[in-house]
Amino acid sequence: MASRMELLLPWCRLRFPVSGTSQTRRAPGRPRLSQVRLSSTKAAAQRVPGREEADSKVGTRKKTFTEVQAERLEQAQRTVLINCPAKISEKKFLTYLSHHGKINSHYFYESYGTYAVVEFSEKDSIASLQDVTRTPGIEEECAVPFKSRLFTLTLKNPSTQAANQAPVHCHKQSTIVVNDLVQKLCSADSVSNQLYTLMDEYQLTEENTKLRFLACSLIQDIACAYFPECTVKPFGSSVNTFGKLGCDLDMFLDLDKIGRSPTRAKTGPFYMEYQMKRVPSERIASQRILSMIGDCIDNFGPGCVGVQKILNARCPLVRFSHQPAGFQCDLTTNNRVAMRSSELLYIYGSLDSRVRALVFSVRCWARVHGITSTIPGPWITNFSLTMMALFFLQKRTPPIIPTLDQLKDLADAEDKHIIEGHDCTFASNLNKIKPTENTETLDVLLSDFFEYFGNFAFNKNSINIRKGKEQNKPEPSPLYIQNPFERALNISKNVNESQLDRFVALARECAWILQQEDTGHSSLSNSQPWGLAALLLPSVASHCIKGKKRKRGPASERIKSLLDSLKINNANSLVNNGGKRTFSNQTQ
Ligand code: GTP
Ligand code: MG
Repeated sequence: MASRMELLLPWCRLRFPVSGTSQTRRAPGRPRLSQVRLSSTKAAAQRVPGREEADSKVGTRKKTFTEVQAERLEQAQRTVLINCPAKISEKKFLTYLSHHGKINSHYFYESYGTYAVVEFSEKDSIASLQDVTRTPGIEEECAVPFKSRLFTLTLKNPSTQAANQAPVHCHKQSTIVVNDLVQKLCSADSVSNQLYTLMDEYQLTEENTKLRFLACSLIQDIACAYFPECTVKPFGSSVNTFGKLGCDLDMFLDLDKIGRSPTRAKTGPFYMEYQMKRVPSERIASQRILSMIGDCIDNFGPGCVGVQKILNARCPLVRFSHQPAGFQCDLTTNNRVAMRSSELLYIYGSLDSRVRALVFSVRCWARVHGITSTIPGPWITNFSLTMMALFFLQKRTPPIIPTLDQLKDLADAEDKHIIEGHDCTFASNLNKIKPTENTETLDVLLSDFFEYFGNFAFNKNSINIRKGKEQNKPEPSPLYIQNPFERALNISKNVNESQLDRFVALARECAWILQQEDTGHSSLSNSQPWGLAALLLPSVASHCIKGKKRKRGPASERIKSLLDSLKINNANSLVNNGGKRTFSNQTQ
C-alpha cells in the first residue's frame, strides 16, 4: 500500500476552454475506423464473455463481493504450488498427483523457474501429498522444518525424462510492453475498442487471480501458527476489478473472528472470559502482531524474501516479496475500511463495462507519463485516480454510476457496516442497482475525462464520490479527494502543486489531441498512432509546458515528433491488417 505523505500548499488554476463534446468524434473518411461506430455497451457485448464474468453469477443473480471472496479463499486452501522442471510430461505429472485425489484444475507459469498451481477437489489430498514429501537434504545449510504447500518436484532421471520433451505451456503473468501495446491499439477500429483492447491486455487473468488468493492462503498458514482462526484476504486492486497484471498484492490479516464474542449464556451464574494481554491501543496491538508475523514470514516462510516491517506508517504493514508467486506483498491488519473500499470499487467496476475500461486506460496513461509511481511520494496514486474517474462518471448526464449516498439508500440491514465510528454502509447486492440509461461511447468519455479534469477548479473544489458533486475544499491541499468513508480525510493529501500541475497540463494536451482527431484537423496517415495509442507516446508529456497555453504547430508536425521518440518497427503490418480488433483470449 502506498504510504501517505502530507503536504499543504495553496493552489489556484486557470480555466481552459475546450469546445466540442459531440458524439461523432473522428474525421470523416478515416479508413481505419469502422463505418458503423459501435457504442461501448455494444462493443462490450461483442467481447468473448470471460470466465470471470461467468463465474461471478449464481443463475441470473450476480454474486456479491463477499461470496466471490469466500469461494476463492476456500479454493485456495485446496491448492498447492509446485516448482517443477520446464520440460516435463504434463500427463505424467497429473497422473502422479492424482494419486492423492481428484484434481480440479491446474496451470503452469514462469517466475524464477517454472511453477504449477494445482487445485485439488478435496483439502485432504494436500495432507496425503505432504505425507509422501521429504524434507530437503542440504549439505552446507540447514532447512527450517516448516511443512508448507510449496513444493519442489524433480525428475529422477533428468537426462532421459526431459529429452525430446517440449516445455510446458506457461500462462502469462505480466503485461506487454508499452510499445507493443501501442501497436495493438492502432489495429483497433475505434477509440472505444482501443480501451477494451488495453483492458484485455492489462487486466488480471483468472490464473493470476487464483495465484493471488493462493499467496494469501500460504501466508495464512504461517499466521495460523499463532492465530488458528485468522484469515488472510487480498484487498485493493487484486480484487477491486481494477487490478493490472503485476500490481502489488495487498493482504489483510483478519483476526475479527477471534475477537467476536459468542452471545453470552443466558443461564447459569457465571461468565467466562479469556485472559488476554492488554496493550494501550489498537494501533500498538496491530504493530506487535505484524512485527511478530513479519518475523515468522522472514524466518519460516518459504519463498518470502526482502521482509521489511513498516510499522510507523499511518497503516502499519509488513512488505515482502513472494518470489515463487512473483508478487510484492503488503500485509496489514486492522484495516477493515480498506477492505470496504475494495468492495465499493468492485461494485462500481462490475456495474458497467465502461467503468473498468476507462479506469484501466487512465491508470495506464498516468503510469506511462509518470503521473503515478510505484515509489511513495507527492504523486497521484492509482486509488486517487480511480476516485477521480468514478467521480467523472457520476457527473455524466445521465450518470453512468450511482453516488455512494445512493448506494447507501439501497442498503439492506446486513449491509450496515460501522467501522471505528465510520459509516461504511452501501448495497452489496449488484442486482439491486438499476443499470444506467447513459449510452455514451468510450470515445466521448475518454476525451471528456481529459477535458473535465483539464478544466477542474482544483483551487476551490474537492472531489467527493459520496455526493457525486464538487464541494468547497475544507483545507488548501492542491488536490482534495474526500475519503469516502473516513470523511474528514483527504486521500490525496500527499499530492503537491507541481504534480497536480503536470496532471492538468497532460490532461489538456490529451483532450486537445483527441479533439484534433475528431474534427479532422490532424493530417495523420494511417500508420501513425491515433486515439488512445497517441496519448501513450512519451513525447506527449514533453509538449506540455508548465502553466502556459502553448502555441500549437500543425498537428502533423507535432505527431511526427512524437513518432520520432517511438520506434515503430511494424507500421506496415498495422496498416495492412484490415483494422481488425485483436483481443487476447488467453486470460479468459
Ligand atoms: P495499485 O496497488 O496501485 O494497483 O492500486 P491499489 O488500489 O491496490 O492501491 P494501494 O495498493 O496503494 O492500496 C490498497 C488499498 O488501500 C486501496 O485499494 C484502498 O482501498 C486503500 N488505500 C490506498 N490508499 C489510500 C488512502 O490514501 N486512503 C485510504 N483511506 N485508503 C487507501
Ligand atoms: Mg495495491
